[in-house]
Amino acid sequence: MEFPFDINSFFGDQISVLDQNLTATRKCWGRADFQHQMATVIDELGKASAKAQQLQVPITSAAKMQANRHQLYVLKDGEANNGRGVAIGFLKVGYKKLFVLDHGGAHNEVEPLCVLDFYIHESLQRHGYGKRLFNHMLENERVEAQLLAYDRPSQKFLSFLRKHYGLAASVPQVSGSACESIPVC
Ligand code: ACO
Repeated sequence: MEFPFDINSFFGDQISVLDQNLTATRKCWGRADFQHQMATVIDELGKASAKAQQLQVPITSAAKMQANRHQLYVLKDGEANNGRGVAIGFLKVGYKKLFVLDHGGAHNEVEPLCVLDFYIHESLQRHGYGKRLFNHMLENERVEAQLLAYDRPSQKFLSFLRKHYGLAASVPQVSGSACESIPVC
């Protein structure tokens, strides 16, 4: 995803990790123009993800990031677009209290790290970028894929989890709950 500005100004690393404060690099501090541009990138990625998942409203935006304690991992190609960089995709995670059904039908309260949103630009899907981003998140959060919860995983994401992490079975959850399934090996 291209923008009419240099995304390397505020996304310093190939994968930038953003929290509630939306500051990826020191350069961003106090620079209103960089903060505005970063918010534009996050909003556009969020809209593209919603479109890809056929959602009415984006789950990810700069305003939603600032209002929640989520972690956003943004993957870029810093050299594309004549050196201004392109955003390849993002992954958003956060802790959520859930009542999950176990195989015996009992409710259990848990607060796992939950994958909330995940998107790789259409032109770059199936090139291994999703796996790179996901593995970076697992390392950074010090967690394993089977210990995460997944918020309404799409068919593509379920296929991704099966292929890369061997996650096949899941315990269907009560409709409308925050995370509809926790895949188990
Ligand atoms: N159809 C079916 N499976 C797919 C597709 C597709 N179009 N694209 C990726 N996958 C799965 C497959 O298992 C694929 O392996 P294969 O090519 O051997 O079949 C594997 O992912 C490829 O792995 P990566 O290249 O590392 O994954 P990618 O970079 O494509 O990222 C992602 C995966 C994020 C799911 C991407 O396909 C995407 O953005 N999809 C649209 C948005 C979406 O569905 N996001 C998940 C929402 S649910 C949530 O966030 C909780």
